[in-house]
Amino acid sequence: MGVPTAMRLAAATFVAGGLIGAAAAIAIHSATVQAGAVAPADDLAALKASFRRPASVPFPADNPFSEAKRRLGEALFHDPRLSIDGSLACASCHQRGKGFADGKAQGRGVPGRALKRHAPSLWNLAWASAVFWDGRARNLEEQVAGPIESPDEMAQPMAAVVARLAADPVMARAFTQAFPESPHVNGANLAKAIATYERTFVSPESRFDRWIAGDEHALTPREVAGFRLFTGKAGCVKCHSGFAFTDYAFQDIGLPGEDRGRGAVLRLAAAEHAFKTPGLREIGRSAPYMHDGSLATLEDVLRHYAGGVLDRPTLSKDLPRGLKLSEAERANLIAFLGTLTGEGEPGLPANIVAVTSGPSEPAQKVSTVSQDEKTFHPSHIALARGERLWIVNNDTRTHNVRIFDPALDFDSGAQEPGETVEIGFPAAGSFLVFCGIHPKMELYVDVAP
Ligand code: HEC
Ligand code: HEC
Repeated sequence: MGVPTAMRLAAATFVAGGLIGAAAAIAIHSATVQAGAVAPADDLAALKASFRRPASVPFPADNPFSEAKRRLGEALFHDPRLSIDGSLACASCHQRGKGFADGKAQGRGVPGRALKRHAPSLWNLAWASAVFWDGRARNLEEQVAGPIESPDEMAQPMAAVVARLAADPVMARAFTQAFPESPHVNGANLAKAIATYERTFVSPESRFDRWIAGDEHALTPREVAGFRLFTGKAGCVKCHSGFAFTDYAFQDIGLPGEDRGRGAVLRLAAAEHAFKTPGLREIGRSAPYMHDGSLATLEDVLRHYAGGVLDRPTLSKDLPRGLKLSEAERANLIAFLGTLTGEGEPGLPANIVAVTSGPSEPAQKVSTVSQDEKTFHPSHIALARGERLWIVNNDTRTHNVRIFDPALDFDSGAQEPGETVEIGFPAAGSFLVFCGIHPKMELYVDVAP
């Protein structure tokens, strides 16, 4: 998860019960490879390993985990005083039992108008970078003011929320305990506390995890056949990858509608109609589906991918074209998706080990970086001042190279496969280079003074 061992600061372990990443050896038995095209055992082992539960949860260096912050965040998330008339808390629209969504195609805020988009699930956002369906908030801290101040949602200026909470001695004390370094009830601390709480929403263990960890009886043959379709012919894994079943990138999957999604945020034609790939954990609980809540069931979702895709130039290059699925294949895929939802009521996450995130490898002294498979190679480089950086798109996908820094604001526009982007750095310092379409692509550049 992009966390170097040297930077692992095991800050806390909380909430016992359940298992995370019991790094059990993965046993491959013939029972698991009986359906569909049979991959060699090594490939299957590697594929299964790519879905393994991570052993730790990354927290940003400027908002590390603490139990006092998590507790305050939990109280705020459930506090209806965040809305102007006291009628709505965050938890009204993000209900744990409904996959942190609200069960409606489009929910309603304080004024009672239908919202423009469907409430997304909040599972596994600790690994996300940009949030909202169009990624307009760069991180969870930045997201919090959105619903509070939006006239369609909670409809209250942050200053008014802060004044209300500061007048409550219990709240004031909770803020002091959570932020001993800056003991204030203010918008920044409120956002940090809620973001800390949200990062603990790690989806509970499901039968799929037990299968990944080596229990070959955890899935039925039909569910295993569904996994093979998901990772094979149906191409779902191109975008729904890894433990959370998302690449946290933005893709146009050909749903009808006028919403321009990521394109409007980036002001980039190549990203029109692109929305964030949602994770698929606990997917059985969060119907209806998609950014507009337009698909009521998982059957509807499959009918979209096999036969319903609207052809347009911005369609993701990762989307399979002309996909056909038989009735039996659709049933197998749906059976497989069912294994991603935990049994019983979703409980609290287990044994979360908080770590501080940062570059995942030591800096290399090179000035040319390659992009492929939605990754920068290398991902951490050191330049001398005055040196230029060249980034070559060796990928099959369109990228959008960006730097968002007080010292340097850079936007490459659409960078098609084969194209090279050149960047000069005006000042010394550490810069984060990322892709606006695939924000998990991160390149750290250290420029020496
Ligand atoms: C009235 C219903 C409603 C309320 C209240 C509400 N939300 Fe949301 N939330 C939504 C909708 C709808 C979206 C999607 C909006 C978009 O993407 O444009 C969303 C998106 C989000 C996201 C982005 C998730 C992702 O996967 O990108 C986060 C995080 C979030 N909300 C947290 C909160 C927090 C924290 C609060 C309380 C301060 C809150 N929400 C209050 C409806 C609500
Ligand atoms: C090109 C990338 C891509 C591929 C391939 C892909 N998806 Fe998706 N998936 C997305 C995106 C992006 C969304 C959200 C789209 C939107 O709301 O406009 C989505 C939404 C979904 C949802 C709804 C989730 C929710 O919370 O609303 C499900 C379920 C889903 N996909 C399953 C699948 C399955 C099954 C396959 C294979 C048949 C698949 N996806 C293939 C990118 C992809």
